[in-house]
Amino acid sequence: MDVAVLVSGRGSNLKAICSAIDAGTCAANIVGVVSDRKKAAALGFADERGIPTRLVSLRKGDDRSLWNEDLAKTVASLNPDLIVLAGFMRVLGSPLLERFPGRIINVHPALLPSFPGHSGPQDALDGGVRITGCTVHIVDAGVDTGPIIAQAAVPVLDGDSADSLHARIQVQEHRLLPAVIHQIAVGAITLDPLTVGTPVTDPARSLTVPDV
Ligand code: GRF
Repeated sequence: MDVAVLVSGRGSNLKAICSAIDAGTCAANIVGVVSDRKKAAALGFADERGIPTRLVSLRKGDDRSLWNEDLAKTVASLNPDLIVLAGFMRVLGSPLLERFPGRIINVHPALLPSFPGHSGPQDALDGGVRITGCTVHIVDAGVDTGPIIAQAAVPVLDGDSADSLHARIQVQEHRLLPAVIHQIAVGAITLDPLTVGTPVTDPARSLTVPDV
């Protein structure tokens, strides 16, 4: 399964996908990494690994609809079967969503539908929850609102800061995201474009999500 990975930042999830591919536990081939930020460290990692990279930057004052078109064309030119948002910090517009209905997934650092948006770990701390985690879900036009595919739980510990909590959540992200990509690749999870990506789990195949 050919996968395009969209990134804005460090790229630890991109690295985790690559490690799982190398280990033979994720049956995917990364056809390109696309970023909206030139300085994203993830781009440097992709370059080093020989993965094609594309930059579609969006600066203050830029026309957002042109950017959405450009992003859709750039991603489509890679001809992916699946698009993975791995720390891509922009809400997608209709050009990309309509071109790849139900074929875009995202990883989020909270147990959705709780704590969507940019500050999942801090919002979990502020909310006083004792358990949070991460979610892999199908992307729709909302902010972290699409159908949930898989989740992993992470306890909130006394004295946690947003950073320490996020670091423990990321340990689980790095297991869950490659596992879900693999499950999609082998057909254990079907993303049905007719229902705009409602995830269907095949009960005849084992759905293995990481232990917490
Ligand atoms: C992850 O925590 C992910 O859940 C969120 O952005 C972060 C990206 O981290 N959407 P990285 O760039 O993969 O290290």
